[in-house]
Amino acid sequence: MKISFIGHSCFLVEEGSYSLLFDPFITGNPTATVKVEDLKPTHIFVTHNHGDHKGDALEIAKATGAKVFTTNEIGDEFKNNGIETIAGHIGGKAMTEFGSVKFFQAFHGSGIEGGHACGFIVDIGGKKIYHAGDTGLTKDMELLRREYIHVALLPIGDFYTMGPEDALEAVKMIKPKHVVPMHYSTFPAISQDPEVFKKIVENSTETKVMVLKPGQSIEL
Ligand code: NI
Ligand code: MN
Repeated sequence: MKISFIGHSCFLVEEGSYSLLFDPFITGNPTATVKVEDLKPTHIFVTHNHGDHKGDALEIAKATGAKVFTTNEIGDEFKNNGIETIAGHIGGKAMTEFGSVKFFQAFHGSGIEGGHACGFIVDIGGKKIYHAGDTGLTKDMELLRREYIHVALLPIGDFYTMGPEDALEAVKMIKPKHVVPMHYSTFPAISQDPEVFKKIVENSTETKVMVLKPGQSIEL
């Protein structure tokens, strides 16, 4: 699978005929390297309703017909706009054309009354990706060990989410094969050096850290 980092918490995962777009914050994102109209995903994932995650999701879904995965209350706006929306909830799993999507708890505001923020465990092509969304460190992450995560996309920016030291503890609990850090250095409040995170993780775990600049891709 090809994983492209678009910037902040936005990734495009391509596998076969599927292209999965996570947290498409393009407009107003000083690090974004693509134009909204250039994104043609088959599926869109929205972890929560904060502007730096929901971003341009509605506009892209309208333009492309991509299906949207998000939690129930956040899904209403998409449904009301005629978007095919898979609005599950924490702990649930949806079977999909490409595999499955499980909604995992994220310890963070949802940005909508009565709603929940989430992370996603996406099984595609027999490999699991965990996009953590925005979250603080929780012991619940131990539950992810039995998912055998191939690549975990984890926030390291601190202030709004885990910082590098807590993200290291998350890696120790999850034990993914690879980690790509996200949600850092987009704004001054979340300024971090991802190479420091890479060093502390690779010095104390078996996990490989792939640091991507916005616009960079890897095959995993
Ligand atoms: Ni947030
Ligand atoms: Mn955020």
